[in-house]
Amino acid sequence: MKILFAASEGAPFIKSGGLGDVLGSLPPALSKLPDTEAIVFVPYYSKIKNNPELNIEYVTSFYMPLAWRNSYVGLFKAEVKGKAAGRGKRSKVTWYFIDNDDYFARDSLYGYPDDGERFAFFSKAILESLVHLDIEPDVIHCNDWQTGFLPLFLKALYGDVEKLKKVRTVFTIHNIEYQGKADADFLSEVLGVDERWRNVCTQDGMINAMKTAIVLCDRLSTVSRTYASEIQYAYFAHGLESIISENKYKTLGIVNGIDTALYNPEKDNTIDFKFKATDLSGKAKCKAALQKDLGLPVRDDVPIVAMITRLVKHKGLELVEWVADNLANMDIQLVVIGTGDEHYEEMFKFLSYVHPETVCAKILFDPVLANRLYAASDFFLMPSKSEPCGLSQLIAMRYGSVPIVRETGGLVDTVEPYNIETGEGRGFTFKVFNAHDMLGAVERASEFFKDKKSLDSLRKKIMKLDTSWKESAQKYMDMYQGMFE
Ligand code: GLC
Repeated sequence: MKILFAASEGAPFIKSGGLGDVLGSLPPALSKLPDTEAIVFVPYYSKIKNNPELNIEYVTSFYMPLAWRNSYVGLFKAEVKGKAAGRGKRSKVTWYFIDNDDYFARDSLYGYPDDGERFAFFSKAILESLVHLDIEPDVIHCNDWQTGFLPLFLKALYGDVEKLKKVRTVFTIHNIEYQGKADADFLSEVLGVDERWRNVCTQDGMINAMKTAIVLCDRLSTVSRTYASEIQYAYFAHGLESIISENKYKTLGIVNGIDTALYNPEKDNTIDFKFKATDLSGKAKCKAALQKDLGLPVRDDVPIVAMITRLVKHKGLELVEWVADNLANMDIQLVVIGTGDEHYEEMFKFLSYVHPETVCAKILFDPVLANRLYAASDFFLMPSKSEPCGLSQLIAMRYGSVPIVRETGGLVDTVEPYNIETGEGRGFTFKVFNAHDMLGAVERASEFFKDKKSLDSLRKKIMKLDTSWKESAQKYMDMYQGMFE
């Protein structure tokens, strides 16, 4: 089985969020299964192109029509092999990069007025590359709106290409909030498909990449079971609820995993002291070291509550804002790392200025500091309004940081509420999107922190969970195979 992934980002080459993490870890996990090959296509952004440490080679180039345009497509390639693990096959993924400086030689990945055109170009260029290359995928697995027009191009423009006739498509929704909307003339001006497709591509009067993919893909998936059912409702679906419901028959929720070799407190060189479930002494040292570096009182009797997040509304920051003073006046140390909306950046800066003993805000994107905080923290706060899957809570648990989460999406599927009586469960949770319910969960957690014995056994339990891709990669494989039965 040859699986081709199409995505707008993927670690280790380029990553702005969880999508990049998934593309960096699911394809290698799949490539370890018997008779399975994984290929990833991403744009050749200048951040990749100008990185001298990457070993990327030129493959070929050609011109491709996109409506009335005739555009240059360059193709580059790299191979990424996983470390040899004790048993089993070594992972190997072939990466292809679609080059076109007009579209991708820019400072950021997204956020331009012509994003629709940039990613329509990218999606079509993948199919065009297959015509030029000796690759015959069985499955093309598209991810999020940026690759949403690929199933359309395949059906509307590549139907006659012999080797693409048997290809099946999967579309995965990582976040339904961003759909890739464009004006009505995008159909003829950019996509260059005929009027018959207008209905399929249109949602509420606009051309919509995500809607197009949902309708045309052979299988639809989202990144957790709970999110798959949530997006049938308007609160979560941002206008696509009825399309999701109509296509429920082909939909599956498969929870994300993380790269457990990368996120491993026993081997992680970025953290101050290494530790493991059976010996947590290193974690206490990590905590003291970080408190010192951040200028917080070095105290082991006060819990560090961490937030590592994009500072945007749907991450639940309005709840934090609402009870910010209550949090700052508790006997906790709230440490926040992240960037995003200026409003929230300023809020955290101000809070840490007024409460230097209990709040510390680092308004930056720093993966090493983030790892040190995962390792040092006692609790990990994630009060998301919606959360398709969420990876941070999985990383936090791996480093023995107990999650405090709202019960939504992947947070429901990965953080079972902790029961103080029986010791069952994994973290502290709250149901309603309400600031005082969140505050209550933080209070319960900080009370629980005093019970060292129970805290240690909960830490040990969550550190030992298998949050790798093993099970979910197999579920994807079953889904791929199911399309050919
Ligand atoms: C998006 C979602 C996040 C998910 C990630 C990877 O970033 O917001 O919940 O974990 O995609 O699927």
